[in-house]
Amino acid sequence: MRRAMAAGNWKMNGLSADLSRIAAIAALRPACEMVLCPPATLLAPAAALVAAEGSALALGGQDCASAASGAHTGDISAPMLADAGASHVILGHSERRADHREGDPLIAAKVSAAWQAGLVAIVCLGETETERAAGRTLSVIAGQLARSIPEGADAARLVVAYEPVWAIGSGRTPSPEEVQEVHAALRKGLATRFGADVAAGVRLLYGGSVKPGNAAGLMALPDVDGALVGGASLEPESFAAIVEAIDTA
Ligand code: PGA
Repeated sequence: MRRAMAAGNWKMNGLSADLSRIAAIAALRPACEMVLCPPATLLAPAAALVAAEGSALALGGQDCASAASGAHTGDISAPMLADAGASHVILGHSERRADHREGDPLIAAKVSAAWQAGLVAIVCLGETETERAAGRTLSVIAGQLARSIPEGADAARLVVAYEPVWAIGSGRTPSPEEVQEVHAALRKGLATRFGADVAAGVRLLYGGSVKPGNAAGLMALPDVDGALVGGASLEPESFAAIVEAIDTA
């Protein structure tokens, strides 16, 4: 019932010379839903390429403003992302939370803006290493879930990505049991707040050092519906291997 999702997050990587990598990813024909989030500067040319390829690859932004337009120098709004060819947007990534001091209320406002523009919001949350060591993982996650997702969530426009901060780019991941524990708690939290149907439909992605070598074990977990992939999405071959692991899970 939940269609699995493979999402790639290129972060601040990618020049026009890298469009050939996007073409290689667009040429994949997986059963899962595939979303690539390149830097905003590549969205429009990537969209043209995806259309020319007749590919089902969806494109996403990596952040959006909470306002639709106005005097916000340097910001990119959700309608602008949609206009450039995006259907999705990553919000609340830990790098935005840390580098730009984004808190849950701002993230919730951005999610509303994304929905207003017709975008699917991929909302990221996750504990720091200190929080995990203190046994606070589940309470941190519950708080982020409660505060960073506004009312009105439904399975068609919300995806939640569990990304332990300490696992991002580190080559370390929680154990499959630890991932499943958090995902089950997230699904329960969604059910309490939005009802059982919404909770049963929302895709829960795991992110943080997903690689071809560990994807199968993580993707086989009952409450893991796909992956949000950073570094390994930059290489079409490694992203393809992860996509295949998602398809076979
Ligand atoms: P990583 O990044 O796969 O490079 O760890 C994941 C992310 O930050 O979304």
